[in-house]
Formats: sequence, structure tokens, C-alpha cells
Amino acid sequence: MTEKLACDLSVVIPTYNEKDNIKLLLSRITEILEGHGCKGFEIIVIDDNSPDGTSEIVKELSLKDNRIKLIVRTNERGLATAVKEGLKHATKSYVVVMDADFQHPPELIPRLYQKALEGYDVVVASRYVLGGGVEGWSNIRLLASKAGCLIARMLVRGAREVRDNMSGYFIVRKSSIDIERLNPRGYKILLEILGRHNNLRISEIPYIFRNRRAGKSKISTNTLVDFLIHVFNVSEPLKFAAVGASGVLVNLGIMWFLLYYGVSKELSSLTGIEASIISNFILNDKFTFQAREEKKYGFLARLMFYHLSSSVSAITTFLTMLLTTEYLGIHPVLGQFTGILLGFTANYLLSSRVVWLEKP
Ligand code: GDD
Ligand code: MN
Repeated sequence: MTEKLACDLSVVIPTYNEKDNIKLLLSRITEILEGHGCKGFEIIVIDDNSPDGTSEIVKELSLKDNRIKLIVRTNERGLATAVKEGLKHATKSYVVVMDADFQHPPELIPRLYQKALEGYDVVVASRYVLGGGVEGWSNIRLLASKAGCLIARMLVRGAREVRDNMSGYFIVRKSSIDIERLNPRGYKILLEILGRHNNLRISEIPYIFRNRRAGKSKISTNTLVDFLIHVFNVSEPLKFAAVGASGVLVNLGIMWFLLYYGVSKELSSLTGIEASIISNFILNDKFTFQAREEKKYGFLARLMFYHLSSSVSAITTFLTMLLTTEYLGIHPVLGQFTGILLGFTANYLLSSRVVWLEKP
């Protein structure tokens, strides 16, 4: 039972030392797609000048079949940048991204494509939906992978509904994403796509992540630190917190400076507060919420709203400073700091739900 497929499809395969897999994979993909009546696809292999001669094999195949395209990069290495390069070169409307080592079963390509045609921008081949799974992983590795997905789901807006947001196997409708926006240092390209775009229509279909067919894994940088840095780069709440921390320094620094030169604690406090509101606003606008397109409110309105939304924490800060210095006799800078901590949470909630609200 093979359904006929429309065939507006590119398949992007990054390779590094895959000489024992690539030939079979390319013929399997060709066979599977042709088996579905799909002939006009293209397969783009991005090889980082593998020392094992992967590119020579692909080159030879590409001479016989012009649907197979080879890009060899000599000045760059890295899975994520390779995928980005492949996405850029893809000429079809839908692009499948997959590994070369058969851990991503090529039989799934038609199903990913059909699902996408039902009206999804991204369809993820997922280990963590019903029917999916992994083969031969220790419990520890499975737990670490699932924990990573969960952290990303909690912290990255676009990844929220995606169970396997770290999958390396997915299809994307090319026009639904802005490839230039993808940070090539991004650790997981799917997480990058999900994190840099809002309002993508996403679906997942299950698959079993099998053992590598030949060769060995190149992902040695699979460390917690890389992952956390990447999550930070695409996580609004984490960036917001970092901006907030910088604002605390601005606030307390300016207050301390003014107190030092004999300005009253009230005026020092208020000046520190206003300076930090402005610096936070600029950083949040340019950095934290940078990925949000077509904001509902203009710049000045956002600035005004941000003041309004900060007013709760500003008033909290000022009053806490006054009360703690008057009644507890503590240093005004310490009182101010206590107030900042109290007001912070309220400020985040107001910012993300009002000030930087997007058009629906
Ligand atoms: N061009 C290029 N450059 N390709 C690379 C590079 C590189 O520096 N490093 C790896 N690749 C290719 C490999 O040849 C393979 O086709 C694919 O990228 C995945 O590399 P593996 O080394 O097999 O990675 P993995 O199996 O450990 O990780 C995969 O599974 C993860 C799921 O747990 C990747 O798909 C990850 O993205 C995925 O999250
Ligand atoms: Mn692999």
C-alpha cells in the first residue's frame, strides 16, 4: 500500500566520516521515495571534508543522479552549521533533516512529509511520544536525554509542546522559518528553530532511535554546559533573569554612588530604580524578546508599559527600602536590594504577559 506523494521535498544530510553508511542510505531514500511515486526530490549532503572519503562517494553518486547534491565545507565543522547550510541550499518547499547513520529510519520520510502536508510547519520524528523509543540506551542516558527535553520544554517558549525537542530528525516547511535567524552556534538545530520562531504549527510522529549502523558518533560535545548555554540563548525567562540581574547592579551601583556624594536616600533610591528600569527595558527589547516579531505595541508604548509594569516592583523596592531602613535600621543599599528581590517576580509576570505581548 503505497500512496503517491507530491514531491516538493529536499532531504538534508550532514555527514562526517560516514563512508560505510552514506551510499546505502542514499539508495534507500531514493528507493523509498520512488516507491511512493516521488521522483523530483533532491538530497543534499553537507560533508565537512571527511578524512574517510565520504565526499568522494557522494560525488560519484551525484554524477549519476542529479537529484543528489554535494556540498563540501573545508573551512568549517559542526553539525548545526552544516544543517543550516543545507537548509539554505534546499530548493524545495519542505526539507527533511536527518542523520546519515540509520539511527533515523528513512522509511519514516514519507510519513513526515504526508503529516506536514496536512498543514504543519514542523513535524518532528519523536522518541518520546507513544510508539517511539530508543534502542540500546542505558537508563542513565535515557534519563539525561528526557531531562534535557523537559528543561527545554519548561524554558523555551516554542519547544513547550514538543516532547522530543532535541530530535535531529524532522521536516520543516522552508517558508515558515527564517534561516538567518538560526544561531549557528546553536547546539540542537531543532531547538534553535523552535526557540527562534513563534506560532509554528508543530506535530510529532513516533519512531525508534536505533543503534548506529556503522562508524561511530561524532557528538562528543554533548555536554551539560553546551546544552545549558544553548537553552539560555533561546530561553526568554532565563535571559530576562540575566537582564534583571544586570539591572540590580545598575540600580544599586547608582544608588551607592549618589549616597556616597551625599544625596538623600530617597532620591538615590528613586534614581537607581529609574536608571535600572531604562537599562532593563533596552536590554529586554534588544535581547530577551528579540525573537518576537510584529509586536502589538510600538517602541514608546512598550517603554511606557514597561514603566507601568515595573511600577509594582519599583514601589515595592522603594517602600521596602524606606521601611527596612526606618524600622530595622539596615543600610539603604541593603534595604533596596531586599525590595528588588520582592518586586522581581511580579515584574516578570507583567512583562511577558502584557508589555511584550504579540499580535494574536
Ligand atoms: N557536516 C557535519 N559536520 N556532519 C556532522 C558533524 C560535523 O561536524 N558531526 C556529526 N555530523 C553528522 C554525522 O555524520 C551524522 O550523520 C549526524 O551528523 C549525527 O551525528 P552523530 O555523531 O551520529 O550524532 P549522535 O547520534 O550522537 O546524535 C544524534 O542524535 C541525537 C539524538 O539523541 C544527532 O542527530 C543529534 O542532533 C540528536 O539530538
Ligand atoms: Mn548517530
